[in-house]
Amino acid sequence: MRFLVTGGAGFIGSAFVRMLAARPDAHVVNIDKLTYAGNPENLAGIEQGERYRFLHGDICDAKLVNAAIEEARPDAIVHFAAESHVDRSILSPEPVFETNLRGTLTLLEAARLKKVPRFLHVSTDEVYGSIESPHEADENYPLRASSPYSASKAGSDLLALSYFVTYKLAVTVTRASNNYGPHQFPEKLIPLMISNAMEDKPLPIYGDGMQIRDWLYVDDHCRAILAAIERGKPGEIYNIGGSRALPNIEVVCKILAALGKPQSLMQAVKDRPGHDRRYALSSEKLMRETGWKPEMPFEQGLQATIDWYRANSAWVARVKSGEYLHYYEQNYSGRAI
Ligand code: NAD
Ligand code: TYD
Repeated sequence: MRFLVTGGAGFIGSAFVRMLAARPDAHVVNIDKLTYAGNPENLAGIEQGERYRFLHGDICDAKLVNAAIEEARPDAIVHFAAESHVDRSILSPEPVFETNLRGTLTLLEAARLKKVPRFLHVSTDEVYGSIESPHEADENYPLRASSPYSASKAGSDLLALSYFVTYKLAVTVTRASNNYGPHQFPEKLIPLMISNAMEDKPLPIYGDGMQIRDWLYVDDHCRAILAAIERGKPGEIYNIGGSRALPNIEVVCKILAALGKPQSLMQAVKDRPGHDRRYALSSEKLMRETGWKPEMPFEQGLQATIDWYRANSAWVARVKSGEYLHYYEQNYSGRAI
């Protein structure tokens, strides 16, 4: 099968490209702008050649996207590229809307004109907003996005689905819960806490730390996306959850215990504005229709993730420099309570 992947130098996209690289029948063209979150080191060892090509560029650039489709002749476009972080979207919403909406529109339009057989739009459970206990969101749950990030993803989901209804482009939307694993940029909870703890730096806990997230190992997510392409239906939405809901504070305590660091490293900070209290997702539809299920137990996945960050301290040091320091200062300074 031939794939055009966007955002394949980021956290989840690079795991997907690595997964495809291990399949001798897969051909991949990867478009990535290499923003602060895109890192060619995530694809080290994957040689450019007949089966893999990297194109440095912006998904908002219609000329580049059209040329990429001509080169890749894809059976499927798998669209990961996005500005993916809630806190950054609160500090600066415009790049989020540019990439997540205009970029998605540019890809959809090119896919329609060039008659690409399949389009998988990678989205998030955050489009459902905070879910009251004991409910779980299924795919028909109302969209109640809280942050500029989740609003942009909800908008791009609707845009993608409109291309199925109006133009019969074979779009499928997947909505995954919080991912974790190797190569994740240390702005998100788990890698931020692991890398700060490794350096004995304070671990900033937003509000009371009792917000609940459902953790999905990145490779389980990638297998689910492939299952949705191979066995899911066009025009449908599929939730992808990890079946492991935990309060943030419990996740952070597990990280500290695994690293042998004291709980006193945790530091309460002012809460995130508009912070969603609880995400909870039913993935029953994907499991029923494709046979997929999450396989990585959380404790094992967390240990594998911690081991990776420990073994890759040079990657961490390079990523946590320059722009990252500016972002960290902007988001966290003066916030301790
Ligand atoms: P990431 O921030 O690690 O990577 C995003 C990638 O997209 C980077 O390589 C970046 O360079 C690239 N990119 C950004 N803007 C671009 C543009 N205009 N043109 C081309 N490339 C561009 O993100 P991630 O965590 O890997 O998330 C990937 C996708 O999965 C996103 O669509 C996100 O909304 C979705 N998602 C993420 C999670 C999560 O927990 N991380 C959960 C559910 C869904
Ligand atoms: P995050 O990884 O940003 O994912 P999302 O907000 O998209 O779910 O955050 C996960 C949870 O961790 C969320 O409830 C916010 C919280 N959090 C902190 O308490 N401290 C932090 O420094 C970060 C980045 C997140």
